[in-house]
Amino acid sequence: MRQRLFTPGPLNTDERVRRAMDRDWGSRDADFIALTAELRDRLLAVANGAATHAAVPLQGSGTFMLEAAVGTLVGKADKLLVVVNGAYGRRVAAIGRRLGLAVETLDHADDEPCDLTRLAAALDADPAITHVSLVHVETTTGLLNPLETAARLCASHGRALIVDAMASFGALPLDLATTPVAAVLASSNKCLEGPPGIGFALIERAALDPAEGRNPSMSLDLHAQWKGFETDGQWRFTPPVQIVAGLVEALRLLEAEGGPPARLARYSRRFERLVGALEQLGYRLYLDRANQAPIIATFRPRPETPLGRPFDFQALYSRLAAQGLVIYPGKLTSDVTFRIGVIGALQDSDFDDLIAAIAEA
Ligand SMILES: Cc1ncc(COP(=O)(O)O)c(C=O)c1O
Repeated sequence: MRQRLFTPGPLNTDERVRRAMDRDWGSRDADFIALTAELRDRLLAVANGAATHAAVPLQGSGTFMLEAAVGTLVGKADKLLVVVNGAYGRRVAAIGRRLGLAVETLDHADDEPCDLTRLAAALDADPAITHVSLVHVETTTGLLNPLETAARLCASHGRALIVDAMASFGALPLDLATTPVAAVLASSNKCLEGPPGIGFALIERAALDPAEGRNPSMSLDLHAQWKGFETDGQWRFTPPVQIVAGLVEALRLLEAEGGPPARLARYSRRFERLVGALEQLGYRLYLDRANQAPIIATFRPRPETPLGRPFDFQALYSRLAAQGLVIYPGKLTSDVTFRIGVIGALQDSDFDDLIAAIAEA
Protein backbone atom coordinates (compact mmCIF):
# COMPACT_ATOMS: atom_id res chain seq x y z
CA MET A 1 0.00 0.00 0.00
CA ARG A 2 1.30 3.46 -0.91
CA GLN A 3 2.06 5.55 2.17
CA ARG A 4 0.67 9.05 1.85
CA LEU A 5 2.45 11.38 4.24
CA PHE A 6 0.51 14.40 5.55
CA THR A 7 3.38 15.30 7.86
CA PRO A 8 6.15 17.92 8.10
CA GLY A 9 8.59 15.52 6.47
CA PRO A 10 10.08 13.31 5.28
CA LEU A 11 7.41 13.49 2.60
CA ASN A 12 6.22 11.77 -0.51
CA THR A 13 8.61 12.26 -3.42
CA ASP A 14 7.86 12.27 -7.13
CA GLU A 15 8.62 9.05 -8.97
CA ARG A 16 11.16 10.98 -11.10
CA VAL A 17 13.04 11.93 -7.92
CA ARG A 18 13.22 8.30 -6.82
CA ARG A 19 14.29 7.19 -10.30
CA ALA A 20 17.07 9.79 -10.38
CA MET A 21 18.61 8.06 -7.33
CA ASP A 22 18.69 4.64 -8.97
CA ARG A 23 22.36 4.52 -9.93
CA ASP A 24 25.82 4.71 -8.37
CA TRP A 25 28.33 7.56 -8.46
CA GLY A 26 31.88 7.84 -7.25
CA SER A 27 32.34 10.97 -5.18
CA ARG A 28 35.21 12.19 -7.37
CA ASP A 29 33.53 11.42 -10.73
CA ALA A 30 33.31 14.43 -13.03
CA ASP A 31 29.58 13.63 -13.37
CA PHE A 32 29.06 13.85 -9.64
CA ILE A 33 31.12 17.02 -9.27
CA ALA A 34 28.90 18.59 -11.96
CA LEU A 35 25.81 17.39 -10.07
CA THR A 36 27.06 19.05 -6.89
CA ALA A 37 27.69 22.29 -8.76
CA GLU A 38 24.17 22.13 -10.21
CA LEU A 39 22.79 21.52 -6.72
CA ARG A 40 24.55 24.57 -5.29
CA ASP A 41 23.50 26.81 -8.22
CA ARG A 42 19.89 25.68 -8.09
CA LEU A 43 19.63 26.21 -4.32
CA LEU A 44 20.82 29.79 -4.74
CA ALA A 45 18.45 30.37 -7.64
CA VAL A 46 15.41 29.37 -5.55
CA ALA A 47 16.05 32.40 -3.30
CA ASN A 48 17.71 34.69 -5.89
CA GLY A 49 20.94 34.61 -3.88
CA ALA A 50 23.62 34.02 -6.51
CA ALA A 51 25.02 37.56 -6.38
CA THR A 52 25.47 37.71 -2.61
CA HIS A 53 25.35 34.25 -1.04
CA ALA A 54 27.08 30.88 -1.30
CA ALA A 55 25.26 27.55 -1.05
CA VAL A 56 26.81 25.12 1.41
CA PRO A 57 25.12 21.71 1.56
CA LEU A 58 25.97 19.28 4.35
CA GLN A 59 25.23 15.63 5.07
CA GLY A 60 22.50 15.17 7.68
CA SER A 61 19.06 16.41 8.66
CA GLY A 62 17.94 19.96 9.32
CA THR A 63 19.18 20.00 12.90
CA PHE A 64 22.72 19.15 11.78
CA MET A 65 22.54 22.27 9.64
CA LEU A 66 21.23 24.42 12.50
CA GLU A 67 24.16 23.29 14.63
CA ALA A 68 26.66 23.72 11.81
CA ALA A 69 25.46 27.23 11.01
CA VAL A 70 25.34 28.50 14.60
CA GLY A 71 28.81 27.07 15.28
CA THR A 72 30.23 28.55 12.08
CA LEU A 73 28.63 31.99 12.17
CA VAL A 74 28.43 32.91 15.86
CA GLY A 75 31.74 33.37 17.66
CA LYS A 76 32.76 33.33 21.33
CA ALA A 77 32.79 37.13 21.44
CA ASP A 78 29.31 37.33 19.87
CA LYS A 79 25.83 37.12 21.34
CA LEU A 80 22.85 35.38 19.76
CA LEU A 81 19.26 36.52 20.35
CA VAL A 82 16.84 33.72 19.49
CA VAL A 83 13.22 34.57 18.72
CA VAL A 84 11.23 31.71 20.24
CA ASN A 85 7.64 30.80 19.46
CA GLY A 86 7.88 27.05 19.26
CA ALA A 87 10.08 23.99 19.55
CA TYR A 88 12.44 24.88 16.71
CA GLY A 89 13.32 28.29 18.11
CA ARG A 90 13.98 26.57 21.44
CA ARG A 91 16.22 24.10 19.58
CA VAL A 92 18.41 26.87 18.15
CA ALA A 93 18.80 28.37 21.63
CA ALA A 94 19.74 24.93 23.03
CA ILE A 95 22.32 24.47 20.29
CA GLY A 96 23.87 27.85 21.02
CA ARG A 97 24.11 27.03 24.73
CA ARG A 98 25.61 23.60 24.03
CA LEU A 99 28.27 25.40 21.99
CA GLY A 100 29.03 27.61 24.99
CA LEU A 101 27.86 30.76 23.22
CA ALA A 102 26.15 33.76 24.78
CA VAL A 103 22.46 33.19 24.05
CA GLU A 104 19.31 35.08 24.95
CA THR A 105 15.78 34.30 23.95
CA LEU A 106 12.91 36.59 23.07
CA ASP A 107 10.04 34.39 24.22
CA HIS A 108 6.58 34.44 22.72
CA ALA A 109 3.51 32.25 23.11
CA ASP A 110 3.34 29.39 20.61
CA ASP A 111 0.54 31.12 18.71
CA GLU A 112 2.16 34.56 18.61
CA PRO A 113 4.31 35.69 15.68
CA CYS A 114 7.54 37.58 16.36
CA ASP A 115 6.66 40.92 17.93
CA LEU A 116 8.75 43.45 16.03
CA THR A 117 8.37 46.16 18.65
CA ARG A 118 9.80 43.83 21.29
CA LEU A 119 12.54 42.72 18.91
CA ALA A 120 13.54 46.34 18.24
CA ALA A 121 13.51 47.10 21.98
CA ALA A 122 15.68 44.04 22.71
CA LEU A 123 18.22 45.10 20.09
CA ASP A 124 18.25 48.68 21.35
CA ALA A 125 18.66 47.52 24.95
CA ASP A 126 21.60 45.19 24.36
CA PRO A 127 24.38 46.33 22.01
CA ALA A 128 26.23 43.07 22.73
CA ILE A 129 23.76 41.16 20.52
CA THR A 130 25.47 40.49 17.20
CA HIS A 131 23.15 37.85 15.69
CA VAL A 132 19.41 37.20 15.68
CA SER A 133 17.83 33.90 14.83
CA LEU A 134 14.28 33.52 13.54
CA VAL A 135 12.27 30.50 12.39
CA HIS A 136 10.36 31.46 9.23
CA VAL A 137 7.59 28.88 9.63
CA GLU A 138 7.41 27.29 13.09
CA THR A 139 6.47 23.73 12.28
CA THR A 140 5.42 23.23 15.90
CA THR A 141 2.12 24.84 14.90
CA GLY A 142 2.44 26.17 11.33
CA LEU A 143 3.01 29.73 12.56
CA LEU A 144 4.36 32.26 10.05
CA ASN A 145 6.89 34.77 11.33
CA PRO A 146 7.29 38.19 9.62
CA LEU A 147 10.60 37.46 7.93
CA GLU A 148 10.82 40.48 5.61
CA THR A 149 10.17 43.08 8.30
CA ALA A 150 12.31 41.29 10.88
CA ALA A 151 15.18 41.17 8.35
CA ARG A 152 14.95 44.88 7.65
CA LEU A 153 14.77 45.62 11.36
CA CYS A 154 17.90 43.56 12.10
CA ALA A 155 19.75 45.16 9.18
CA SER A 156 18.83 48.67 10.32
CA HIS A 157 20.23 47.77 13.76
CA GLY A 158 23.40 46.33 12.21
CA ARG A 159 22.75 42.75 13.41
CA ALA A 160 23.11 39.58 11.33
CA LEU A 161 19.96 37.50 10.86
CA ILE A 162 20.06 33.70 10.70
CA VAL A 163 16.81 32.20 9.38
CA ASP A 164 15.61 28.66 9.92
CA ALA A 165 13.64 28.32 6.69
CA MET A 166 13.36 24.56 7.02
CA ALA A 167 9.59 24.49 6.52
CA SER A 168 9.27 27.33 4.03
CA PHE A 169 12.19 27.17 1.59
CA GLY A 170 10.98 26.48 -1.94
CA ALA A 171 7.40 27.56 -1.35
CA LEU A 172 7.15 30.84 0.58
CA PRO A 173 8.70 33.89 -1.09
CA LEU A 174 12.31 34.70 -0.19
CA ASP A 175 14.39 37.09 -2.28
CA LEU A 176 17.92 37.42 -0.97
CA ALA A 177 18.64 40.29 -3.36
CA THR A 178 16.16 42.46 -1.48
CA THR A 179 15.89 40.81 1.97
CA PRO A 180 18.96 41.31 4.18
CA VAL A 181 19.64 37.86 5.62
CA ALA A 182 23.08 36.59 6.63
CA ALA A 183 22.14 32.93 6.38
CA VAL A 184 19.14 30.85 5.35
CA LEU A 185 19.04 27.25 6.54
CA ALA A 186 16.87 24.48 5.14
CA SER A 187 16.80 20.82 4.24
CA SER A 188 16.14 18.56 1.29
CA ASN A 189 12.93 16.90 2.37
CA LYS A 190 10.30 19.57 2.98
CA CYS A 191 8.98 22.06 0.41
CA LEU A 192 11.70 21.06 -2.05
CA GLU A 193 10.11 17.57 -2.03
CA GLY A 194 13.48 15.81 -2.16
CA PRO A 195 14.66 12.78 -0.18
CA PRO A 196 15.87 13.31 3.41
CA GLY A 197 19.58 13.46 4.17
CA ILE A 198 20.92 16.90 3.21
CA GLY A 199 20.77 20.21 5.04
CA PHE A 200 21.99 23.34 3.35
CA ALA A 201 22.79 26.96 4.11
CA LEU A 202 22.78 29.96 1.84
CA ILE A 203 25.33 32.19 3.54
CA GLU A 204 26.31 35.73 2.69
CA ARG A 205 29.86 35.56 1.40
CA ALA A 206 30.78 38.49 3.63
CA ALA A 207 29.72 36.41 6.66
CA LEU A 208 31.68 33.35 5.52
CA ASP A 209 35.01 35.07 5.06
CA PRO A 210 35.65 35.76 8.78
CA ALA A 211 34.36 32.30 9.85
CA GLU A 212 37.53 30.34 9.17
CA GLY A 213 38.41 28.03 12.07
CA ARG A 214 35.55 29.29 14.24
CA ASN A 215 33.44 26.14 14.42
CA PRO A 216 34.68 23.81 17.19
CA SER A 217 33.28 20.86 15.21
CA MET A 218 35.36 19.53 12.34
CA SER A 219 32.58 17.87 10.36
CA LEU A 220 30.03 20.68 10.87
CA ASP A 221 32.42 23.47 9.83
CA LEU A 222 30.57 25.23 7.02
CA HIS A 223 33.49 27.51 6.23
CA ALA A 224 35.70 24.50 5.54
CA GLN A 225 32.93 22.79 3.58
CA TRP A 226 32.46 25.95 1.49
CA LYS A 227 36.21 26.27 0.82
CA GLY A 228 36.26 22.64 -0.25
CA PHE A 229 33.48 23.19 -2.78
CA GLU A 230 35.11 26.37 -4.07
CA THR A 231 38.51 24.70 -4.39
CA ASP A 232 37.78 21.41 -6.15
CA GLY A 233 33.99 21.13 -6.29
CA GLN A 234 34.03 18.15 -3.94
CA TRP A 235 32.46 17.31 -0.59
CA ARG A 236 34.97 17.05 2.23
CA PHE A 237 33.59 13.75 3.52
CA THR A 238 31.68 10.90 1.84
CA PRO A 239 28.74 12.59 0.10
CA PRO A 240 25.23 11.10 0.11
CA VAL A 241 25.47 10.67 -3.67
CA GLN A 242 21.97 9.33 -4.31
CA ILE A 243 20.41 12.01 -2.14
CA VAL A 244 22.29 14.71 -4.07
CA ALA A 245 20.93 13.25 -7.32
CA GLY A 246 17.40 13.06 -5.92
CA LEU A 247 17.53 16.62 -4.63
CA VAL A 248 18.85 17.97 -7.93
CA GLU A 249 15.97 16.25 -9.73
CA ALA A 250 13.53 17.68 -7.17
CA LEU A 251 14.95 21.17 -7.85
CA ARG A 252 14.52 20.66 -11.60
CA LEU A 253 10.89 19.68 -10.96
CA LEU A 254 10.42 22.80 -8.81
CA GLU A 255 11.63 24.95 -11.70
CA ALA A 256 9.40 23.07 -14.18
CA GLU A 257 6.40 23.61 -11.91
CA GLY A 258 6.97 27.39 -12.04
CA GLY A 259 9.21 27.86 -9.00
CA PRO A 260 8.16 28.78 -5.46
CA PRO A 261 5.07 30.85 -6.51
CA ALA A 262 3.53 27.84 -8.28
CA ARG A 263 4.38 25.53 -5.39
CA LEU A 264 2.88 27.95 -2.90
CA ALA A 265 -0.29 28.10 -5.00
CA ARG A 266 -0.51 24.27 -4.99
CA TYR A 267 -0.03 24.08 -1.22
CA SER A 268 -2.45 26.96 -0.58
CA ARG A 269 -5.18 25.28 -2.64
CA ARG A 270 -4.84 22.08 -0.63
CA PHE A 271 -4.61 23.93 2.63
CA GLU A 272 -7.87 25.80 2.01
CA ARG A 273 -9.62 22.58 0.97
CA LEU A 274 -8.35 20.70 4.04
CA VAL A 275 -9.17 23.41 6.56
CA GLY A 276 -12.62 24.04 5.05
CA ALA A 277 -13.47 20.34 5.20
CA LEU A 278 -12.17 19.82 8.75
CA GLU A 279 -13.94 22.90 10.03
CA GLN A 280 -17.15 21.44 8.64
CA LEU A 281 -16.41 18.32 10.69
CA GLY A 282 -16.09 20.45 13.83
CA TYR A 283 -12.32 20.80 14.10
CA ARG A 284 -10.81 24.24 14.63
CA LEU A 285 -7.50 25.73 13.51
CA TYR A 286 -5.26 26.40 16.50
CA LEU A 287 -3.78 29.58 15.01
CA ASP A 288 -5.46 32.75 13.81
CA ARG A 289 -5.70 32.59 10.04
CA ALA A 290 -3.58 35.74 9.71
CA ASN A 291 -0.63 33.98 11.39
CA GLN A 292 -0.95 30.66 9.60
CA ALA A 293 1.39 29.48 6.82
CA PRO A 294 -0.15 27.10 4.26
CA ILE A 295 2.39 24.38 5.11
CA ILE A 296 1.10 22.49 8.12
CA ALA A 297 -2.08 23.02 10.12
CA THR A 298 -2.62 22.40 13.82
CA PHE A 299 -6.18 21.40 14.61
CA ARG A 300 -8.09 21.33 17.86
CA PRO A 301 -10.73 18.66 18.05
CA ARG A 302 -14.20 19.51 19.27
CA PRO A 303 -14.40 18.72 22.99
CA GLU A 304 -16.64 15.73 22.32
CA THR A 305 -16.99 13.57 19.24
CA PRO A 306 -20.44 13.10 17.72
CA LEU A 307 -20.68 9.78 19.60
CA GLY A 308 -20.15 11.56 22.92
CA ARG A 309 -16.68 10.18 23.56
CA PRO A 310 -13.61 12.38 24.09
CA PHE A 311 -11.31 12.88 21.12
CA ASP A 312 -8.74 10.09 20.85
CA PHE A 313 -5.83 11.00 18.57
CA GLN A 314 -4.34 7.52 18.66
CA ALA A 315 -7.61 5.99 17.49
CA LEU A 316 -7.88 8.47 14.62
CA TYR A 317 -4.22 7.98 13.72
CA SER A 318 -4.53 4.19 13.64
CA ARG A 319 -7.71 4.22 11.54
CA LEU A 320 -6.02 6.47 8.97
CA ALA A 321 -2.67 4.67 9.08
CA ALA A 322 -4.43 1.38 8.28
CA GLN A 323 -5.37 3.03 4.96
CA GLY A 324 -1.83 4.34 4.36
CA LEU A 325 -2.79 7.89 5.39
CA VAL A 326 -0.24 9.27 7.85
CA ILE A 327 -1.03 12.35 9.96
CA TYR A 328 1.00 13.82 12.79
CA PRO A 329 0.51 14.33 16.52
CA GLY A 330 0.43 17.82 17.99
CA LYS A 331 3.62 19.24 19.49
CA LEU A 332 1.95 21.48 22.06
CA THR A 333 1.98 20.54 25.70
CA SER A 334 -0.80 22.97 26.60
CA ASP A 335 -3.61 21.81 24.27
CA VAL A 336 -4.92 18.60 22.69
CA THR A 337 -4.09 19.08 19.02
CA PHE A 338 -2.96 17.21 15.95
CA ARG A 339 -1.26 18.31 12.78
CA ILE A 340 -1.76 17.74 9.07
CA GLY A 341 0.83 18.82 6.52
CA VAL A 342 -0.01 19.79 2.95
CA ILE A 343 3.51 19.71 1.49
CA GLY A 344 5.00 16.87 -0.52
CA ALA A 345 4.37 15.22 -3.88
CA LEU A 346 0.72 14.37 -3.28
CA GLN A 347 -2.26 14.69 -5.61
CA ASP A 348 -5.43 16.66 -4.86
CA SER A 349 -7.18 13.26 -4.84
CA ASP A 350 -4.99 12.20 -1.90
CA PHE A 351 -6.54 15.05 0.10
CA ASP A 352 -10.02 13.95 -0.98
CA ASP A 353 -9.20 10.47 0.35
CA LEU A 354 -7.83 11.88 3.62
CA ILE A 355 -10.86 14.09 4.22
CA ALA A 356 -13.24 11.22 3.47
CA ALA A 357 -11.32 8.92 5.82
CA ILE A 358 -11.33 11.47 8.66
CA ALA A 359 -15.09 12.01 8.24
CA GLU A 360 -15.61 8.24 8.29
CA ALA A 361 -13.35 7.75 11.33
C1 LIG B 1 11.41 24.72 11.30
C2 LIG B 1 12.22 23.48 11.52
N1 LIG B 1 13.48 23.60 11.95
C3 LIG B 1 14.26 22.53 12.17
C4 LIG B 1 13.79 21.26 11.95
C5 LIG B 1 14.68 20.09 12.26
O1 LIG B 1 14.89 19.31 11.15
P1 LIG B 1 15.28 17.77 11.27
O2 LIG B 1 14.14 17.08 11.96
O3 LIG B 1 15.39 17.40 9.82
O4 LIG B 1 16.55 17.65 11.99
C6 LIG B 1 12.49 21.08 11.50
C7 LIG B 1 11.94 19.73 11.27
O5 LIG B 1 10.75 19.51 11.15
C8 LIG B 1 11.69 22.22 11.27
O6 LIG B 1 10.43 22.10 10.83
